[in-house]
This record gives sequence, structure tokens and C-alpha cells, in this order.
Amino acid sequence: MDDTAIKIENLTFFYPSEEEGQAPEDVLSGVDLTVEKGSFTAILGHNGSGKSTLARHLNALLLPKGGSVTVFGMDTRDEELTLEIRRRVGMVFQNPDNQIVSNVVEEDVAFAPENLGIPTPEIRTRVDEALKTVGMYEFRTHAPHLLSGGQKQRIAIAGVLAMRPKCVVFDEPTAMLDPQGRRDVMRIIGRMKKELGTTVILITHHMEEAAMADRVVVMSDGQIAMDGAPGEVFTRVEELEALGLTVPDTVKLMWELRQKGVDVPLDTLDVEECAKALAEHFKKK
Ligand SMILES: Nc1ncnc2c1ncn2[C@@H]1O[C@H](COP(=O)(O)OP(=O)(O)O)[C@@H](O)[C@H]1O
Ligand SMILES: [Mg+2]
Repeated sequence: MDDTAIKIENLTFFYPSEEEGQAPEDVLSGVDLTVEKGSFTAILGHNGSGKSTLARHLNALLLPKGGSVTVFGMDTRDEELTLEIRRRVGMVFQNPDNQIVSNVVEEDVAFAPENLGIPTPEIRTRVDEALKTVGMYEFRTHAPHLLSGGQKQRIAIAGVLAMRPKCVVFDEPTAMLDPQGRRDVMRIIGRMKKELGTTVILITHHMEEAAMADRVVVMSDGQIAMDGAPGEVFTRVEELEALGLTVPDTVKLMWELRQKGVDVPLDTLDVEECAKALAEHFKKK
């Protein structure tokens, strides 16, 4: 059995140049990335590093200028496969307002599966199930525009879930949400991976969110600069800072202690772990 969900090989992409006669600049150059089925990958990188452009290649919203993108064995350049690819790979974007298309929550959730040709009787079941998964079932007859940002984002996620995708790409889904909304969305993402076996790609600016992933990929200037487990990537403090990224506060604290000669581990990614490691260290003294 093939365990590969996404295979990106030597991907190059550029947007058309705005000035006539000017050669367009590569926004992605030589990107290679293989993502395993059922895994959770976080993508970090400064603004303009090409994260969203890469994300849009994963469900054929953009097509490679060079190299290839294969999702679940399907080449995104094959137009006959576009519909099937979009059923398998869902996308959730930053601004929930731009993703709402209907005045009633359950109609909104039904929109994507309807568009992608899912049979009508099947849609009803899927919509209810998706709304329950995101904890918004009781709001099914409400008007989406009266909901909070976090609730709207959960509705957008339900719309994607109703397609029963094998993979979901989240492009900074919590960027516009308050802390409660962020936690709710992250909890749903965690459940999708654990309970539904969904392959998750999460683009984020929040280090604590990236720390929840199995793997962290760091982009810089259209290329992959770092790739590894969170505990590995986040300990490369100076490299990350050189790429304009901050490390999680817990890692930063441990790193500064180490600079001062205190022998503590660097890979404590949550506060609890960090506190335990510190207590352990000072107990030994
Ligand atoms: N639709 C577009 N047309 C032209 N240039 C674009 C477009 N979208 C993004 N870009 C440019 O491509 C580069 C990468 O952008 P993007 O993929 O959005 O990066 P990120 O998501 O990491 O911030 C930036 O220089 C950006 O200005
Ligand atoms: Mg972006």
C-alpha cells in the first residue's frame, strides 16, 4: 500500500509579471516535499515566503510551472482529475467571512458537497455529522453572519468536512480569531487527525500550534529551509531567528538558560513539560 498523500517534486511557480516585458520572478523554486497519509504537518515561514502559493497547489487551485504535484496518486495537471482532487483535498482559509456563502448555517455547510456532485440524500447526513464534529449542530438554522469569528470558522471547517476529505489544508485558520476561537479550531484539527485519520497541513504563525504537529516545515523565499520534528526544528533557535521566526516561549527560555551554562533540555514544547524539566534540573542540584 502506498502511504504517500502528497508528493511534490521540484515544484516551480511564478505569477505573471505585472510589468510588461519583465520576466516574472519565481515564488516557489525547486520545492520537494512528501507528506505521509494521516500525518499532521505544520508549515511556517515569513510573510511572502510562498506558503499560500504552495497550499493552493495542493488542490489544483494553482498548477505547477515546473515540476509536479501529485495528491493521492493524482497529478494536479490532469484536468480530468480536478473534481476528484478537490473532493479529496479541502482548504480552509484565514478569513471565515470570505468562506460563508449562504444565510443559513446548514445550507452553507451543504454548499461545497453540492458543488462537488455528492448525491443529495447523502448530503443531509454528512452536513449533520460535520456540524456535530465542529460542535455547531445546535446553530444549524442560524444566520452565519451573526456568529463569532471562531464559530464562522468552525462552519467553514464543517463545509470541508462534509466532503469527507482525505486531506485538509488550513491556511492560517486562526489568524483572525480570539484565543477561544483559536483553541476550538485547534481542537477540531487535532480530532480530525486522530479520529478521522485526515492528513492535515497547517500553515500558521503560532509556534504553539506548529508544536502540535508531527512535523514542521519552514519555508523561506520559495524554498524549504528546514524540515523535521517540532522538537528538532524548534531547537535550532538561531537559524529560525535568522529566518524571521520566533521560537516558542518555552524553547526560548530553555535556550537562554543554556547560553548561561544551565544544562536543561531544549525540546520542551509546552509549559507543563518545560516546568517539569526545570524542576527536575534544580532538584538534582
Ligand atoms: N495572486 C498573486 N499575484 C501576484 N503575486 C502574488 C500573488 N499571490 C502572492 N503573490 C506573491 O508571491 C509571493 C508569495 O506569496 P504567498 O504565497 O502569499 O506567501 P505567504 O503565504 O508565505 O505569505 C509574495 O511575494 C507575493 O507578493
Ligand atoms: Mg499566506
